[in-house]
Amino acid sequence: MTRIILTGSSGYLGSHLCRFFEEEKVFALYYNNKPQSDKVEPIQIDLSNDGELNFLFKEIKPDYVIHLAAVIPSNISNVDDKLIFQINVEVTKQIASLAQSYNSFLIFTSTDLIYDDGDNIKENHPLNPLNLYAQTKLQAENAILRYGKYFLILRTSLMYGFSISPHKSFFDLSFIQLKNNQEVRAFYDQFRNPLFVEDAARFIIELMKIKLSDEDVMNFCGFEKLSRFEMVMKTAEIFDLNKNLILKESCEILTNYKTAKNLGLNFDKMKKLNLIPNSYEQNLLHLKKNFDFYEPFLINNQNKVFKK
Ligand SMILES: NC(=O)c1ccc[n+]([C@@H]2O[C@H](COP(=O)([O-])OP(=O)(O)OC[C@H]3O[C@@H](n4cnc5c(N)ncnc54)[C@H](OP(=O)(O)O)[C@@H]3O)[C@@H](O)[C@H]2O)c1
Repeated sequence: MTRIILTGSSGYLGSHLCRFFEEEKVFALYYNNKPQSDKVEPIQIDLSNDGELNFLFKEIKPDYVIHLAAVIPSNISNVDDKLIFQINVEVTKQIASLAQSYNSFLIFTSTDLIYDDGDNIKENHPLNPLNLYAQTKLQAENAILRYGKYFLILRTSLMYGFSISPHKSFFDLSFIQLKNNQEVRAFYDQFRNPLFVEDAARFIIELMKIKLSDEDVMNFCGFEKLSRFEMVMKTAEIFDLNKNLILKESCEILTNYKTAKNLGLNFDKMKKLNLIPNSYEQNLLHLKKNFDFYEPFLINNQNKVFKK
């Protein structure tokens, strides 16, 4: 049976991934939020404690390591820079070295935010990470290139879809605000190729069934280029929410968190591996059809997040 160490199993992507495992033996690492899936074995760990990771690799000897844990932009304002560097870079460096020692295949989620602006951006496009998060993800990639042996780096675009984890996404927050008849401000001037979070999870499982190159870097994205404003407008249309509450905002408002404005990714490598996502609209229709499943996750423990 394939043995997998999954970090960040309690996060936005990790918690969807945990739903889709079938035959694999998955050791699901978390810190504050225990994953709820019965398809994985949860293990509580502070990844910044390197002794614990050494011990786990020795015990488990994984075939695959899926390293998702990170400090991501929505949390970054609450976290000091040293910790961001520790989790995003140092932990990745250690995981790459351990994966090398145990001949484990490492799948790592990086970000499209490391690229300079462009259209049809291929994986060899010039890099220009403009904010601390993107800089640490690029340093993490470099650590993998240096210390890793078998790996796939997934340069992931903005993910969307309902979260089933305590970690909420831009998609959840804007949806909840519209449901509560509150205004939503969304960037009209930053374009990315958003990826449905559940496609990302399914594709990662598919990737483990394919004979991959020993070392590769691949854009991991949806096939349409959209602004957040366009995304929220389409969501409002499909879910019959009030579009007049959606206000255009410039991404330039983020003076402490600069980002590239035009990240149109090339997805030839995904196509070659037959990883074909549905359109944004098709995925919204799927979310609408299955809303009963997602709705409880939009309600927090103390209060209803949105009024029904
Ligand atoms: N979300 C996006 O749109 C997006 C876009 C591009 C790339 N990515 C990349 O995709 C990956 C997954 O993102 P996500 O949105 O799913 O992240 P997320 O929801 O913020 O989850 C972060 C995960 O990291 C874990 N973690 C943080 N500090 C830890 C520590 N000290 N010890 C152990 N675990 C720790 C958290 O555990 P607890 O919850 O248990 O504390 C959680 O499971 C990340 O590598 C991110 O950089 C995300």
